[in-house]
Amino acid sequence: MLEKFRISILFLTIFVAGLQITRSGAFAVGPDEIVTGNEFGEPLKDITATEFELFRLGMDDFTEVETADEGLGPLFNGRSCAQCHSIPAVGGSSTVMEVRAGVGQEYGAFEELFGNSLYHMFSIPPHRVQNLIPQQANVVAHRKSVQLFGAGLIEAIPDEALLALEDAQDRDGDGVSGRAHRLVDKASGQLRIGRFGWKAQQATLLAFGAEAYRDEMGITNALFPDEVCPGGDCDAIRLVDAVRDPEDRLDRNTGLRGIDNFENFMRLLGPPPRAAINAEIVRGEQLFQYVGCHSCHVPSFKSGPSPVKALSFKQFFPYGDFLLHDIGTGDGIRQGEGGPEEIRTPPLWGVRFRAPFLHNGSAPTIKRAIEMHRAEAESSRERYERLSQMDKDALFAFLNSL
Ligand code: HEC
Ligand code: HEC
Repeated sequence: MLEKFRISILFLTIFVAGLQITRSGAFAVGPDEIVTGNEFGEPLKDITATEFELFRLGMDDFTEVETADEGLGPLFNGRSCAQCHSIPAVGGSSTVMEVRAGVGQEYGAFEELFGNSLYHMFSIPPHRVQNLIPQQANVVAHRKSVQLFGAGLIEAIPDEALLALEDAQDRDGDGVSGRAHRLVDKASGQLRIGRFGWKAQQATLLAFGAEAYRDEMGITNALFPDEVCPGGDCDAIRLVDAVRDPEDRLDRNTGLRGIDNFENFMRLLGPPPRAAINAEIVRGEQLFQYVGCHSCHVPSFKSGPSPVKALSFKQFFPYGDFLLHDIGTGDGIRQGEGGPEEIRTPPLWGVRFRAPFLHNGSAPTIKRAIEMHRAEAESSRERYERLSQMDKDALFAFLNSL
C-alpha cells in the first residue's frame, strides 16, 4: 500500500515537473533548478538529512584503507578509492597512472589478453603473484584517474540527451562526429548509454564503483564476483587469497554493501564550484564558442527524473558531451564498444585542478592539451591558433574558472 502510494507520488512529481518544463520551455529554467557547487568535496546543496547521512557513510568507505583480511588484493592498484581520487579534495583526481595493455592489430582491432586489459602495480603477498604484461602485448597505455565531482548529475543525464548529440557518420559535415557507447549496464541489466571512464565504458555509478572495487582493489563483490587471474592462472590466485568471494559484505548496522556506499558518496557529491567571474572570463567563454570547443565540450545539460530531489530535472554546466571522439590522442586500447582511436570528451568543470592533462597526463598545461587536439578537433584547434595572444589569455582565464 505504502509502496503504491510512493509510486503515485513519484509519477505525480514527474508529471508536475513535466508540465513546468513545457510551460517554461526546455532552456528557460528558474534559478532554483540550476545546480552550482559549494566547495570541492562537499555534498550537493539541498539534500535531505537522510541523504546527508548516506553521503557521510559513503565517504567513510570511500576513504577507508583496506587490508588483506578484508579482501584487498591479491592484485591491486590502490588500498582505498580516495588514494586515486583526492585532488583537490576527496572525490577528486590524482597523478596516479594506471597501465593497460594488449594486442593491437590493423584496422583498429584490439585483443585483450586473458580477459582484462588492466595490469596491476601491487600484490599481496608481494612477489608471489604478479600481473606481468605478456610478451605478445604490443600496446601499452597509461590512464589517469578522473574527478568525481557532480557525478550524480552526469549519471542523471537521460540516454536520449546523449543520443541526440551523437553524429557518428558526421551527417552535418562539420568534421566532428562523436559516438555514444552502447552497453549493457551491469547494475540494471539494461541497454544503456555509457558516460563514465575514458572510454565511456560504464553508464552507472554502481557498476563503475563495483568494477573499480574488484579491478583497482581486488575486492570481489555482487556485480564482479570473480578475482582477476593474471595470465589466466586462477589457481595461483586461490593459493594466496583466503577470503571467500564475494569479499564485499553487507554491513549489518547500515544494511549497505561497500558498493552501495561508494554509489551514495559519488551520487551525492556536489559539482565543482566556479571561480569568481570577471569580464575577461566572460569574453573567454564567447571565444570558446567562437572557435568551436563547445561542439564537444557541450556547456550545459538537464538531468532527468531522479529519486534524489537535488538531482531531479536540474540544469548544470559540465562542458563535455560524454561521447567517444577521435581527436588523435587514442590509446590503442579497445574497451567494450570504445575503439582504440577514441576517447570520451572529459567534462571541463574542475579542470583547473587537474594537471597533468589528457587521459594519459601527456600534456603538462592546458595550452599544450589544446595544441594536441587533432583529427575531429582539427578545425577548432586551427581557429584557436589564429586567436591573438590576448584572446588566448581570455580563453585560458575562462578554462581556469571552471
Ligand atoms: C589506483 C588508482 C584508483 C583507485 C584505487 C580507484 N580509482 Fe577510480 N579511477 C581511476 C582511474 C585511472 C580512472 C579512469 C579509468 C578509466 O577510464 O579507465 C578512474 C575512474 C573512476 C570513475 C569514472 C568517473 C568518470 O566520471 O568518468 C569512477 C566512478 C571511479 N573511478 C570510482 C572509483 C571508486 C568507487 C573506487 C574505489 C572502489 C576507485 N575509483 C578506486 C583510478 C583509481
Ligand atoms: C572533436 C571534439 C573536441 C573538440 C572540438 C575540442 N575538444 Fe577538448 N577534448 C576532447 C577529447 C576527446 C578530449 C580528451 C582527449 C584525451 O584525453 O586524450 C579533450 C580534452 C581536453 C582538455 C583536457 C581535459 C583533461 O581532463 O585533461 C582540455 C583542456 C580541452 N579538451 C579543451 C578544449 C578546448 C579549449 C577546445 C577548443 C579549442 C577543445 N577542447 C575542443 C574533445 C574535443
